[in-house]
Amino acid sequence: MKNKFFLIAFLLPFISFSQKREWIQPTELWPDQNGDHIQAHGGGITQIGKTYYWYGEERRQGLDSNKRFVSCYASTDLTNWTFKGDVLQLDDPENLGRRWVCERPKVFYNAKSKKYVMYLHLDNASYKLARVAVCVSDKPDGNYTYVKSFRPLGQESRDIGQFIDDDGTAYLIFEDRPNGFHIAKLSEDYMDVEKEMCLVKMKLEGGAVVHFNGLYYAIGSALTGWNPNPNKYATATSLEGPWSEFKDIAPPEKKTYGSQSTLMLKVVGKKKTSVIFMADIWKPRTQWDSRYLWMPLEIGDGKLWLPEPKPWQINLKTGEVKFQDLSK
Ligand code: GAL
Repeated sequence: MKNKFFLIAFLLPFISFSQKREWIQPTELWPDQNGDHIQAHGGGITQIGKTYYWYGEERRQGLDSNKRFVSCYASTDLTNWTFKGDVLQLDDPENLGRRWVCERPKVFYNAKSKKYVMYLHLDNASYKLARVAVCVSDKPDGNYTYVKSFRPLGQESRDIGQFIDDDGTAYLIFEDRPNGFHIAKLSEDYMDVEKEMCLVKMKLEGGAVVHFNGLYYAIGSALTGWNPNPNKYATATSLEGPWSEFKDIAPPEKKTYGSQSTLMLKVVGKKKTSVIFMADIWKPRTQWDSRYLWMPLEIGDGKLWLPEPKPWQINLKTGEVKFQDLSK
């Protein structure tokens, strides 16, 4: 009897960690399969078959401070995530010196070359280098090897975003402080940034684009570093623009509920197409504790709105979302 009690007491933490999560809980700690808070900040999502891979900045405590790490998590329901490891473990690749920067990784799968191509923001401590780095892997979950770094289209590039159109074309979104917000097409093998689709002359970063019901929606945040601000959106019938005037995605005084955009993910189900807003709630002094704000958007007819965060779930087959009834 006593033995049984000890066995249960010993197993309890493991049992609760491996329990399936039913709800996505924006702003809360988000445990992976081991019960550790997911470390995939400034992230991106790549869907391969039925599996979603979430890549992001690994910011757990105790990392080798000379290196920078990109993590990878896998999920088939967008709610329960399995840590696949730090798929990029990079030594300072361009002699950038102390406090060099590797941020906002995004992975594109190239069906022709069968390579996974990772873009990330590479910089020195003063953010003056303003380049993208390109790394590749034969598998989604690494390991990735560093190939090169450059300024896309010869322009400064800090925050980057990814967008795959319905026809499969891959685009990089990048913020270029002197000029604005670029949407640019990748080359055939994805190893270069080939063609400017448009330059939106707005000071926006954390850029994301989605193609929904025949209209393109772009969102971005103001340039306030780690501090939240009212993120905004505009629409266009073509990626080249013209883009509409930028409007708030939520009540401006809420400052995007303390978050900053990183991606919009479209889920096309049998009954509904849902678009998920993915954002980071940064904690600059305790980065490992930075949280995520993922919420389904109210979107359509040229309007986009981020509802107040609350727990929700998505049925990936139907595309329908459900919110938790907090009154119960
Ligand atoms: C933010 C940016 C982050 C990080 C930070 C550094 O504006 O979105 O990715 O670069 O600045 O201050």
